Amino acid sequence: MPNPTFRPGDIWHDQAGQPIQAHGGGILYEEGVYYWYGENKDAPTVSSEMVGHQLKAPIGFSCYTSADLYHWKHEGVVLRAEQINAQEDIPVQERPKVLHCPATGQYVMWFHADHRDYAYARCGVATSDSPTGPFTFRGTVRPADSDSRDFTVYQDTDGAAYILFASEWNKTLWIARLRDDYLDTIGSASRHFIDQSREAPAIFKRGDRYYLLSSGCTGWDPNPAECATAPAVTGPWTVQGNPCVGDGAETTFQAQSTFVLPLPGKADAFIFMADRWKPADLRDSRYVWLPCQFDDERLVLQWHDSWDLSVFEK
Ligand code: DGJ
Repeated sequence: MPNPTFRPGDIWHDQAGQPIQAHGGGILYEEGVYYWYGENKDAPTVSSEMVGHQLKAPIGFSCYTSADLYHWKHEGVVLRAEQINAQEDIPVQERPKVLHCPATGQYVMWFHADHRDYAYARCGVATSDSPTGPFTFRGTVRPADSDSRDFTVYQDTDGAAYILFASEWNKTLWIARLRDDYLDTIGSASRHFIDQSREAPAIFKRGDRYYLLSSGCTGWDPNPAECATAPAVTGPWTVQGNPCVGDGAETTFQAQSTFVLPLPGKADAFIFMADRWKPADLRDSRYVWLPCQFDDERLVLQWHDSWDLSVFEK
């Protein structure tokens, strides 16, 4: 067997030989296991009323587990669309992210919950006693009582958790602290990147510095990524610019950020995770994972046809 590698843009298979369905995803790491949650789009695509959007009846969110990040076992659809839609009509279910709440011991999933015209603009919240689910849908919230579309949630090193979300009709990024039970925000929020129209946020901490990646707002079409850094989750954020270099830098290598995974036990190893959307057939959207490199404090992302975790040993 050849050594396993990541091949950005190829079809990635699970251990049963099926294409992995974990779009717009994020990873939770616990006790030697990576849990990858994402949108399962493995259903025929049908056109929606919105020009440029190809939607279908959603399936829900899948979870895959791995000990090494290369081999993934499908744990199934851990939150089913039918369960959500039995309570609320939410045809758009995107970007699930899961945190383990220290106060309640529960696994808390947040996701973007919307109508087909993307005007509902809420977050769905679900909980489970196990990282592999099943998750129970608890309803939708408006974080800090505002509209919310693309978002991420982040657990800081002190256990405090935050939601970073595109608000004000995608114009401005809001950051709000979650309650201790992680089921809602504490109410207030701060505003960042005002009128900059940033979406697809992904945050990580390197040393004392926080890095925030985001994309512009061009629907399913790729655009240049932007990186910003700050001394705290709540800013102030200073824009570094596009971290991508080389061919494809202007389209984030035809992809859009979704998450940055810190490798456990390593000070300086982070994987940038992005989606190469295929709007005409969203189920065939691909994963673009790339190693984060740093030029002093500046994040640098370079294309690799193929790479493996040994890049972090150098
Ligand atoms: C861009 C977002 O990042 C995606 O999650 C999705 O909502 C598309 N827009 C829909 O156009």
